[in-house]
Order: sequence, then C-alpha cells, then structure tokens
Amino acid sequence: MLIARTLPDLRAACAHLRRTAGSLALVPTMGALHLGHRTLVRAALASGAATVASIFVNPLQFGPTEDLSRYPRDEAGDLAALQAEGCALAWLPDGATMYPAGDATTISVDGPADGWEGTIRPGHFRGVATVCAKLFGQVRPDRAYFGEKDWQQLQVVRRMATDLLLPLDIVGIETVREPDGLAMSSRNRFLSPTERQTAAGLIGVLRATAASVAARRDAAEPLAHARRTLADQGFAVDYLALVDGPSLMETGRSGPGVRLIAAATLGSVRLLDNIPAG
Ligand code: PAF
Repeated sequence: MLIARTLPDLRAACAHLRRTAGSLALVPTMGALHLGHRTLVRAALASGAATVASIFVNPLQFGPTEDLSRYPRDEAGDLAALQAEGCALAWLPDGATMYPAGDATTISVDGPADGWEGTIRPGHFRGVATVCAKLFGQVRPDRAYFGEKDWQQLQVVRRMATDLLLPLDIVGIETVREPDGLAMSSRNRFLSPTERQTAAGLIGVLRATAASVAARRDAAEPLAHARRTLADQGFAVDYLALVDGPSLMETGRSGPGVRLIAAATLGSVRLLDNIPAG
C-alpha cells in the first residue's frame, strides 16, 4: 500500500493508480477505523477501482465545545487495517495542507443540511462539505463511499457534488451493526459497559417504531411513544422523526423513500442511527 502525506506525493500516486487500474475510488475517513469503514473499502474494491482511503480528523466540522481533542486516533492500526483490506493508497494530509494559511473559502449547503444535525451542530456540515470538496479535488475519484449511518451527511455530500457539478458518484453503503444491532461508530468506545448495553436499545426502538408507523396514517403517537421509551431507558433524545430520505424534510408519516432518523445521547456519547420507514 502506498502512503502519501504531501500533495505532490498524492498526485503522483493517484496518477500512477489511475494509469494502472483505470479508475479510482475514495473512502474519506477520520481514522479510528472499524468494520464499518472496512466495509466501505471492500465495496470500493469490489467496484474494480484502485481504492484510496483518506485519514484526516477535520477540525472544521467540530464545534468549539465538541470532542475534537479526544477524537480517537490510531494511525498505525488504521494503516494496518487498510493494508489488510487491499487499499492501494492511504492519504494522510496535515492541517496546513487542507487549510492553507489565510484560507477564506468554505462550502455551505442548504436543503438537506438544514435541521437535525445542522441545527444541533451549527457549522458541522459546512466543515464536512468543505473537507469533502477538497478531498475530491485532490484525489479526483470516480466514486466516493460513505456510510448510511450518517444519513444526513450522505445527503449533504450528494447535494454538494450534484450542485457543484463534480464528476464523481457518491455511493451510500448500508450501516454495519454490532451483533446486538448497535450501529458501528468510532465514538462507541467511549460508552461505559452499562451505557454500551443500553445503547443497543436504540435500534430496537427504531425497528418497533418503523413497524408501528407503517400500520397507521398518523405517526405522531408512535413517535411520541418511541421518544418516551428511549427517555425511560436513559437516553437524552435530541430528535426522532420521519423524514424524506434525500431532502431530510419532515414527513410525519411513513412511505416510499422515508427514513426514520434519531439522535440520542448516553453519558457523553451521541448516537446517530436511521432506518427505512416505507
Ligand atoms: O464521516 C466522517 O468520518 C467524516 O465526516 C468525513 C466524511 C470523513 C469528513 O471528514
């Protein structure tokens, strides 16, 4: 596996891979890789492309009171995992490469970035869209792979790529779960053993709620019941709602393309999850 830490090295490596493999796929990550990331790499490889994984903990997507300094970092473990998966190139830029001195340009997405995470984490999607646009410009992949766990992020990146006429496909990959159903996330390691047990309850409530709203015209009661159940289990619920998948607009009822999205905190860990509800 090639490793690039500077733009000239990245450009040379990408040119070489494009010549030999024909196409490039990008898996953008912030490191602390788990099976969810590895599944993205596997999907990228299955497309036949040479696969580039980026590792960059992007300060622009963290708010001033968020967990940037404690975000898990494990460069050696990440590189070993990428190599084992057959990744062709790991791209590890530093902050000055991604945000040159005096930088004055960011990308702000409306539409799917409004509401939900966009309200709770102001500026978060500006950071995500900006870093993804930079990564796309650096690597120039034919496809980029994102997990559906961060459903709103996936829609924001899709919208941004469409609106900026970027010549790549954004591919969403189904959420990878622990055996008890908890969606895999780099932040799960911060759950205490008791919180970890409780955390598995989130997907149970989502599945029961999706079944319940499918059987009714009015979803208000099942949604309220779900919020109460989660609160009783010890979650602080930020939101639990039915939304149109691509636009993230609240629908209030299930149907084709509708997602049931939720965010809830246990201790110091925010959990995000979503499933189809139609
Ligand atoms: O999902 C993530 O890990 C990050 O938000 C991403 C897409 C790598 C951008 O920093």
